[in-house]
Amino acid sequence: MALLQFISAGLEKVAIPTTVHSDHLIVSKFGAELDLQNALIEHHEVYDFLSSASKKYGIGYWKAGSGIIHIIIFENYAVPGGLIIGTDSHTPNAGGMGMLGIGVGGADAVDAMAGMSWELMCPKITGVRLTGSLRNSRWTSSKDIICKLAGILKVSGGKGKIIEFFGPGVESMGATAMATVCNMSAEIGSTSCIFPYTEAMGRYLASTKRADIAKAANTYSTPLLTADHGSDAYYDEVIEIDLDALEPHINGPFTPDLAHPLSRLSDAVAKNNWPAQLSSSMVGSCTNSSYEDLKKVQHLIKQAKAAGIAKVKVPFLVSPGSEQIRATAEADGIFDDLRDAGATVLSSSCGPCVGQWDRTDVPKGERNSVISSYNRNFAGRHDSNSATHSFVTSPELATVFAYSGDLRFNPATDAVSVSTSPSAGLTESFRFEPPESSELPPAFLPGELRYQAPTLDNRSVQVQIDPGSDRLRLIRPFAPWQDENVHDMPILIKVKGKCTTDHISPAGPWYKYRGHLENISNNMLTVASNAFIPPTDTRCIGHAIDPETRKVDSVPLVAQDLKKRGVKWCIIGDHNYGEGSSREHAALEPRFLGGIVIIARGFARIHETNLKKQGMLPLTFDDPADYDRIAEGDRISLRGVQPGEMKPGKQVTMHVRRRDGSSWETHLNHSFHAGQIQWLRAGSALNHIKNVQRA
Ligand code: F3S
Repeated sequence: MALLQFISAGLEKVAIPTTVHSDHLIVSKFGAELDLQNALIEHHEVYDFLSSASKKYGIGYWKAGSGIIHIIIFENYAVPGGLIIGTDSHTPNAGGMGMLGIGVGGADAVDAMAGMSWELMCPKITGVRLTGSLRNSRWTSSKDIICKLAGILKVSGGKGKIIEFFGPGVESMGATAMATVCNMSAEIGSTSCIFPYTEAMGRYLASTKRADIAKAANTYSTPLLTADHGSDAYYDEVIEIDLDALEPHINGPFTPDLAHPLSRLSDAVAKNNWPAQLSSSMVGSCTNSSYEDLKKVQHLIKQAKAAGIAKVKVPFLVSPGSEQIRATAEADGIFDDLRDAGATVLSSSCGPCVGQWDRTDVPKGERNSVISSYNRNFAGRHDSNSATHSFVTSPELATVFAYSGDLRFNPATDAVSVSTSPSAGLTESFRFEPPESSELPPAFLPGELRYQAPTLDNRSVQVQIDPGSDRLRLIRPFAPWQDENVHDMPILIKVKGKCTTDHISPAGPWYKYRGHLENISNNMLTVASNAFIPPTDTRCIGHAIDPETRKVDSVPLVAQDLKKRGVKWCIIGDHNYGEGSSREHAALEPRFLGGIVIIARGFARIHETNLKKQGMLPLTFDDPADYDRIAEGDRISLRGVQPGEMKPGKQVTMHVRRRDGSSWETHLNHSFHAGQIQWLRAGSALNHIKNVQRA
């Protein structure tokens, strides 16, 4: 979608170094090779489009199977002191290399690719002082730092903040372990997350053929690449985590901030009646798929084998983060050991982390639990089954849980039983020792090169889009602002509770349509809860009441009907509306289907910006309790958003007309600055860029 938007800007080439990564589309089913082959066949038109558009506009293209975007960035582009923006919310992963990585929407990326300035509200800075050492830990790893922090700050606690780590504990971590922490900072909604330059980063740079950069970083590390903790006033707040006392964590289900120290998980499982038996365990994702992670998995598998446990107890899926990691791990015998133990090695891609899991072992709707080393665990995130209870943890815990098959297991205190004589029914118990690993391999192997470098001469290159395609379509500009649209607006849906971008635009099978706005819009809010429909009615999920006919239908169908009738509408949202992935479809779809305004108790940063970029008007209740006063059939009019009236920091008045003719008024806030108000008037940021260029 970012490329389609860049094409519509009518420019010749990107103005800054840009890469495109194909990592989200490979469906996990049979294992790495077959899954990749199937993807190349099934998605060839999308890959051809990405390849040809990259060639046309001077962009580097990482083909399917090359690896997960953040791992490729880490291996090739992340440098201490750099700044990178990426259209994926886990871009802060680069902070493990002392680089500021910030997740943005596609429209933000297009601005930067077009050479326009990229802007961000100046963030606050939260310092996290790490004392103690992970080297002293047994089952604790860097994943537990961020799982613990998620429990402290919750999913929106990092909003508008950069998390900066410092303190002696930092020195006890390898570069990819630091990247794990930064990666999952997206789960607390932070703008970014960063570690100061350490020798471990230098070692990683040298091992990935960038010793020259390590040398430069070593030369200039003080004061440019060190933490600023010398002055206490530097941080807006400081949180302390003692690594010596940090327990392993397992977070979930359904939200990554529901943090459980391992010793307390068993009680939580019983108290909440979560399914204790695991149906699957997974290691991988951009969070935990490094060489160091896989080496730990191998160490545990070898322990189990030596104790006489030949196979894992539940399906165990493992994805390497990149082709380089795959080739190195393969040569090291890691994958042979994994396959021996009954694990399935998946391709170097996102797979089940983003719903690309063709799962046949658990029927949809059946309650079950899975555990993974991933970062995100929203309902339906992995397998489109909202009854799957997903827990996130470290790779080592995900591995031992694959052997125990039970969420109540604690490797620090519990043993697994080994059948020594099945015929006589004899068993012995075996206790895992904490895993050992190596921060880096003796040498990384490059594997198969799946990279297409930018082309210098693009004159003969044609961007490949079949006009009849149901997956790709050039986008048309949205209409400019019209005052009458914000008069007497009906409400499409009053969203209740958590509404992530996965709720607004679910992933999994819908990824197929990411380049076709009309088709992907058929998924809009299909897993969101509607406060206008009683929770006892199954239609309260993904359905809306047509504000004119009062017929109940799926949200996208009601929106399409309103669009056909020329009716513009608004959405009422709850707290932290649009948290999670930076998925810009979550902003494009309501705009495409006739949405004008979203009024919520609060917004997640990237989604709020995405909405503004697409010409939508995100507003927040000045008094969050007003959310409760909104009733089905209400009509909303806004004052103070019209040209000449709307000003940065100035409140907007909302007039609510009820079905019975009565009415009430309240105040709403907006976060538009003067430049963003121009996007609103033009109909989108892209329209505004074009207007400026024409002028
Ligand atoms: Fe991919 Fe999951 Fe990361 S979708 S980019 S592996 S969060």
